[in-house]
This record gives sequence, C-alpha cells and structure tokens, in this order.
Amino acid sequence: MRLLLLLVSLTLAGAALAQTQQQQVPQEQDRIKAQQERAVTQPGNNAPVWREVRSGAVGPYNTSTVQGRETNVLIQSWGDTWRRIRNGPVMFYGGWLLVLVIAAILGLYMLKGPVKLSEPLSGRQMRRFSAVEMTVHWSTAISFCLLGLSGLIMFFGKHVLLPLMGYTLFGLLTQLSKNVHNFIAPLFIVSAAVMVIIWARDNLLRSYDFTWLRRAWAFFLKNEHIPSGRFNGGEKMWFWGGVLLLSIIMAWSGLVLLFPNFDQTRHTMQEAWIWHVTAAVLYIAAGLGHIYMGTIGVEYTYGNMRHGYCDETWAKEHHLFWYEEVKAGRRAPAGGAVPAGAPHMKEEER
Ligand code: HEM
Repeated sequence: MRLLLLLVSLTLAGAALAQTQQQQVPQEQDRIKAQQERAVTQPGNNAPVWREVRSGAVGPYNTSTVQGRETNVLIQSWGDTWRRIRNGPVMFYGGWLLVLVIAAILGLYMLKGPVKLSEPLSGRQMRRFSAVEMTVHWSTAISFCLLGLSGLIMFFGKHVLLPLMGYTLFGLLTQLSKNVHNFIAPLFIVSAAVMVIIWARDNLLRSYDFTWLRRAWAFFLKNEHIPSGRFNGGEKMWFWGGVLLLSIIMAWSGLVLLFPNFDQTRHTMQEAWIWHVTAAVLYIAAGLGHIYMGTIGVEYTYGNMRHGYCDETWAKEHHLFWYEEVKAGRRAPAGGAVPAGAPHMKEEER
C-alpha cells in the first residue's frame, strides 16, 4: 500500500514538473523567435539584451561563471545616475554655496571689519587652552585644511584648474591630492574624535547659549558682547554640528570609499560618495566661517589657540560666565597658570 502511495505521488510530482517545463519552453522559444525577428526587422537593435544587462539581474544574456561580488553585473546602471548627480546638483549647488560663503565673509569684513573689544587690553593674561588642547586642535585643523584642499582639487579642479595649467600639471596635482587625501584622512578622524572627547563637557548647551544664537547678528554687526560660558552658542553649533555630526558622516562615507575590500557594492560606494561630498561642502562652508572668526574676524582670538592665553578683557567681553568662574576659583584654567614671559596680545599689537 505504502509503495503504491509513493508511486502515485512520484507520478503526480513528475507530471507537475513536466507541465511547468512545457510552459517555460514556449516562453523561451518565443523569446528566441522574437530576437531572431528583431535582427531582421530592426538590425542592430539589441534592446532586450541590453535591458537585461543593465538591470543587473542574472538571465540568459547576463551571466558569468565567475562567482563573487557583482560578478554578474556587466554594466552597473546606477553609475550613470551617480555621475549625473555628481556633475549636476552636487557640483552646481556645492560650488555656489562655497562662492557665496566666501563672498559673504569678504563682504562682512569689508563693510563691518572685525568684531573689536570695547575696553583696552588689561595686560593680565588668562590660560585659555592647554598644550594638549592646542595640539589636538591644530592637528585637526591642519589635516582638515589638507583634506579640504585636496578634495576641492579633485572635485572642482577639472573646471577651475585644468584650463589654467593643462593636463600634465593637473594630472600630477590630482594624483598628489588623492594620495594626500588617502593618507591624511586617518589623522583627521583620530584628531576629531579626541577633540570631541576633550571638549564635549564644555560644549554642553546652556540656556544662555540660545540668547547668544538669537543675538548672533548683533555680535557681528554691532559688536555686542553676549555673555557665554567657555564656548559661546556659535562655537557649540560648530562643535556638535561640524566636529561631531559632519565628521561622523565624513569618516563613515570616507572609509567606505577608501576600502572597497570591505565587500561593499559599487552602489553603496556611489551613495557613500554623495554623502561624503555633500557633507564636505557643508563642512568646508562652516569651516570657512570658523577660520574667519578665529583669525581676522574677531580681534585677538587667534592668539588664544596660537599661545594658549587670552587677555582678561577679551575673556570678560566674549566669555563672561567662564571668566567669572575662573576668577572665582570655581574652575581651574585648562592648562595651569600662565608662565612668566608668555607672549601677550599687547605685544602682537605692536
Ligand atoms: C586653520 C584653520 C583654523 C583656525 C585658524 C582656527 C582657529 C581657532 C581659534 C583661534 C580658536 C579659539 C577660539 C576661542 O578662543 O574661543 C578655535 C577653537 C576651536 N576650533 Fe579652530 N581653527 C581652525 C580650524 C579648525 C577646524 C578645521 C576645526 C574642526 C574640524 C576646528 C575646531 C575648533 C573647535 C571645536 C574649537 C573650540 C571652540 C568650539 O567649540 O567651537 N578648528 N579655532
């Protein structure tokens, strides 16, 4: 009885399989026939073949005996879309954003000049940054500038530099840029990560930071002194939005692009590229603002990071709550006392 049941089920299964195959055979024959007819009626038109190849799906025209990541993808169609996004909106809006930010900074400097102190320098110095903080800051800053510059050469160079310097020089420059980019990136990632760790506490948002952000226009246009802690509302935005958020996006997408051997597909790398360059353009735009304020935009600020000290008048006018805390002994200055003979802003003035 059992044997009989087994035989019946085998026969039924065989019949079902044969029926499916019979259904497939005419389909396959139709396809071949359609292709043969197409070769006669529309010579040279191999649309079905290319449609299948571009789809990336394995099929009769699109197959490979080599097994591995994307081995069946002969034409990676999304590459076309990526190229259009790269040479279209990212280049257009990214380029214009940078031009407008530079124009706005120059306009502000020429019309208003730097934000100045209201009182004269006191001649008394306060420690503002420790040696560790300065080292971390400058290694982040220098690596950022090298990455930014080499990135801009690789992205916009073809339109801006190539017509000026020709293929040979531009070829050498872009090759150098690529190597600088690859080898400096790890230094930036480590420096930015350490920066986040050492300055996170001083960048926690307080209610007075929102007053600073609301009055930021008056700081730039009317020299208004808005009380703040060790870092003001604008610096905190730069810290959380730039140094933390944009660095994470840059580092993640950069590593995806730098190490294709993580086994990611080309599509993943193309998407990572869009994140990388969009974040980079925003980061550079914000960085230009930071560099402006840290150099010519706000009087006497550069010396803080150059030497680690600031004048008491500068501290009082720009970071009143921090100044009061340090003066009252409620917090120790970042790097201990100011050594005798430390360079002073008054000397830089001469
Ligand atoms: C080469 C260009 C740069 C210059 C000239 C510069 C200058 C300065 C100066 C003078 C300060 C001290 C401000 C103060 O005393 O409150 C400062 C603080 C700071 N800089 Fe830079 N910097 C540069 C690039 C960068 C870059 C690329 C980053 C990060 C990617 C960065 C992140 C910071 C941070 C986080 C602070 C602390 C204040 C804050 O939290 O915003 N700097 N910088």
